Amino acid sequence: MGKTVFAGRDIISIRDLEKEEIEHILRKAEEMEKGPAPLLRGRTLGLLFFEPSTRTRLSFEVAMKKLGGEVIGFSDARLTSVAKGESLIDTIKTVESYADMIVIRHIREGAARLAAEVSEKPIINAGDGPNQHPTQTLLDLFTIKKALGRLDIKVTLVGDLKYGRTVHSLVYALAMFDATISLVSPKGLEMPSEVLEDLKAMGAAIETSNELDISDTQALYVTRIQKERFPDPEEYEKVKGTYKITLGTLEGARKDLIILHPLPRVDEVSPEIDGTPYARYFDQVANGVPVRMAVLGLVAGVL
Ligand code: CP
Repeated sequence: MGKTVFAGRDIISIRDLEKEEIEHILRKAEEMEKGPAPLLRGRTLGLLFFEPSTRTRLSFEVAMKKLGGEVIGFSDARLTSVAKGESLIDTIKTVESYADMIVIRHIREGAARLAAEVSEKPIINAGDGPNQHPTQTLLDLFTIKKALGRLDIKVTLVGDLKYGRTVHSLVYALAMFDATISLVSPKGLEMPSEVLEDLKAMGAAIETSNELDISDTQALYVTRIQKERFPDPEEYEKVKGTYKITLGTLEGARKDLIILHPLPRVDEVSPEIDGTPYARYFDQVANGVPVRMAVLGLVAGVL
C-alpha cells in the first residue's frame, strides 16, 4: 500500500477504512512497537479535547512525541475561547493554522465530521458523543490479534451498547473480519437498530441477548454503563451494575478467553480479574501508543 493512500486523510469513522487498510495500519503498528523514530520532527499535532479523556489524549501525545513531533491543544475547553462563545468551526480554523494534524474529541455526534469539512488539515476522531471512536477500534483489533493471532473469532460485547461509541466502531470492524458477534445489554441499552441493519447487510453473524453467556466466547469486550450519556438519571439507576465480571462469572469460560475493556471502568470488571491471564485491558492501554503512532505516521504521509 503506497504512502499516498493515507496521506492527508481524515479518520472519522472505522467505516472510512477498508479491511485491507485496517490490516495495513495494524502491520505499521507492529513496526512502531520496535521503538521511537523521528519521522514527524518539525510537525505539530493539535489535541482538542472537549470531553474528558485519560488514555486517548495521553497516548496520542506520547505517540507524537515518540515520532519526534510537537503537541499543542487543550483538555478543558472552558479554559479556551470556547468559553467566550467561539464556535467549533472557528476553533478548528484557528488550530489548523498552528497544527499539521488535529485530533478531536467532542460530546456531539458529528463534530469530528464537521471539523473535517472545514479543515484543510487531517482530522482524527478521538470520539464524538456516542457515535464513533475509530482509533480505539484499531487498538482493540491490534490487542485481539496479538493475543489470539486472528480476528475471525467469537466476540461477546457486553454493557452499554446503545450509547457506547467504542462498540459502535468495533462491531463494524469485527464484521469486516468475519467475527461471530454476540451482543449482550440490559433492556433499553441494546445496539441501535440502524447499526444492526448495517451489520446484517454486511452478512455478519450476530446474536443478541440480555443474558451473559460466555461459554464459547474467545474475547469478552466489557463496557461501562455511561451515566453521563443518560438524558434521565433515573433510567441510569435502573440499569447500573447489571453486569459485573468476577472470577465466579468466568467459571466454564475457555482457558484462552481474553477480557477487553476500553476503560475507564467503574465496577463492571472486578479488580480480582486484573492479575489473571484473562485481563487484557491494560494491554489495550499500552497498545494505544504504537497504533496511534502508525495512524499519525500514515496520515502525515511518512510511513
Ligand atoms: N478508551 C478511552 O477512550 O479512554 P479515555 O476516555 O480515557 O480516553
